[in-house]
Amino acid sequence: MKTDVVIIGGGPSGLLLSQLLNRAGVETVVLERSPRERVLSRIRAGVLEAGTVEMLQKAGAGERMLREGHPHEGCIFSDGDLMVRIDFGALTGKTVMVYGQTEVTADLYAAQDAMGATILHEVAEVAIRDADSDAPFVEFTHDGARKRIDCAYVAGCDGFHGVSRRTIPESVRREYERVYPFGWLGLLSRTPPAHDELIYANSANGFALASMRNPMLSRYYVQVPLSDRVEDWSDDRFWERLKSCLPGEVAETLVTGPSIEKSIAPLRSFVSEPLRWGRLFLVGDAAHIVPPTGAKGLNLAVSDVFYLHQALIDAVRHGETAGIDSYSERALRRIWKAMRFSWSMTMMVHRFDGEDSFAAEMRRATLLHLSQSETARRDLAENYIGLPF
Ligand code: FAD
Ligand code: DHB
Repeated sequence: MKTDVVIIGGGPSGLLLSQLLNRAGVETVVLERSPRERVLSRIRAGVLEAGTVEMLQKAGAGERMLREGHPHEGCIFSDGDLMVRIDFGALTGKTVMVYGQTEVTADLYAAQDAMGATILHEVAEVAIRDADSDAPFVEFTHDGARKRIDCAYVAGCDGFHGVSRRTIPESVRREYERVYPFGWLGLLSRTPPAHDELIYANSANGFALASMRNPMLSRYYVQVPLSDRVEDWSDDRFWERLKSCLPGEVAETLVTGPSIEKSIAPLRSFVSEPLRWGRLFLVGDAAHIVPPTGAKGLNLAVSDVFYLHQALIDAVRHGETAGIDSYSERALRRIWKAMRFSWSMTMMVHRFDGEDSFAAEMRRATLLHLSQSETARRDLAENYIGLPF
């Protein structure tokens, strides 16, 4: 087999890149480890920046999102009963879209199918060969046979645990990491959302987030120690904890119900530089992870694709390499700003085990400042709705 660009990973970044390249006449093959149903069953991100919404439209995969997604003009930060609204519309003139990653991925698969794109599922033992030469190729096992694809470029869109990043020699990689001493336990339920906007809640019992997918589907998270297992958390225990974290007026009217899904995600900040090694490019979670607090992970994967797709089109179609030469630097500049925002949001709303009483007062003072300073609210809003590409 031969193609222009082999894309490792059929998550949101791989599919979006493939879709944009195919539409510009660049041929791709997507190699995905999991069956499609498994990729589509991962409940993850829920908030899309305006730039992400535009990119999905540009890819021809935005129609259902515009119809069924929910634009949000603001969100709430709370500490106990103190609630502060961040009015994105008034502060930035922009909104975010509440639309699940599951739906984004389903729309991208549908768009790729409609174009007749090549996506191979259940591939194993993917190996990227000779990425630092002019003739890279990718080997993998599929349908019980070892196969090879020759290509001009390889895009590593295979998430944090993929093979792409590890293909870059350790002597070339610089890694930056911060692991937080807690995780998020998420619960999905067929109940009406607690509030009409998202609530990031700080409390004596730690952090909680009240989010949603649609008027009858809610997504909630509570902060848990890393040692906790999903089995430790009955639905009743979850609802009780959530209520204790939310402002009283919201907790009082909260509608609870059986969970459809429950999972724990650890929180980490991670960056691997550079994003390019020869003809291999890293995209999305393969190169960087943010704690979910700022709702930036999926959006950052999309901004990487924004820079890389045009660069690859220029390289493959026109032999112009300025774009691929500057990809790593351009993408990293935005990545580090999103890292900073996600880290500062995480510090602002979580309780750290063993912390002193000063720490909780600092969080509360930050919220009080936010409630009284439009400048502080605008800064938060600008970052939350997404910095320009
Ligand atoms: P992935 O989604 O990880 O996709 C990688 C794909 O590669 C997978 O399908 C995997 O099966 C495949 N793969 C892996 N290894 C191989 C291999 N060796 N060979 C072939 N295929 C392979 N982000 C936001 O923007 N907003 C949010 O609100 C938000 N909330 C989140 C909440 C939670 C609880 C979590 C866990 C994450 C959240 N994120 C959020 C982050 C977001 O989900 C990720 O940043 C996003 O999925 C990154 O997309 P990706 O395509 O780069 O990687
Ligand atoms: C969701 C997840 C997030 O990490 C976030 O910051 C906002 C919303 C969600 O899953 O709905």
